Amino acid sequence: MMWKEKYKIGIPLVDQQHKELFDRVEEFIKALRKPGDWTEKLPEVKKTLAFMQKYVVDHFAAEEAYQKKIGYPDLPAHHEIHKNFTDYVMRCAHDFEQEGYPEPEVQKFAGTLLAWLINHVVATDLKMSKYVKKEGAL
Ligand SMILES: [Fe+2]
Repeated sequence: MMWKEKYKIGIPLVDQQHKELFDRVEEFIKALRKPGDWTEKLPEVKKTLAFMQKYVVDHFAAEEAYQKKIGYPDLPAHHEIHKNFTDYVMRCAHDFEQEGYPEPEVQKFAGTLLAWLINHVVATDLKMSKYVKKEGAL
């Protein structure tokens, strides 16, 4: 289980979506590491990639809508971080499609995805949570 209790930032909707993201990334990495032919894994790789693209966008939108609602002052900076990462995910998905999903690149992408997610949740999203607690904005 890649999701850990310590990743919880105390905002139920956000925590629930983060857990879903971690679960999906975990599923993705498991699918990639499964023994067997790379080509056999491609349907699952494509499926998860398609889901990630949509879920990342939806989750970031939900998180930003929440930040707007509570008047979070760091929203512009947080949005920029989300946007850069969304662009990265979209660019990778596009390149993979063009290049026929090369295994090393897809593996690297999955690792980056997980590392980014952990870092984002424990650093950037936690700042939002601290603001909520300080301001009593929840
Ligand atoms: Fe975020």
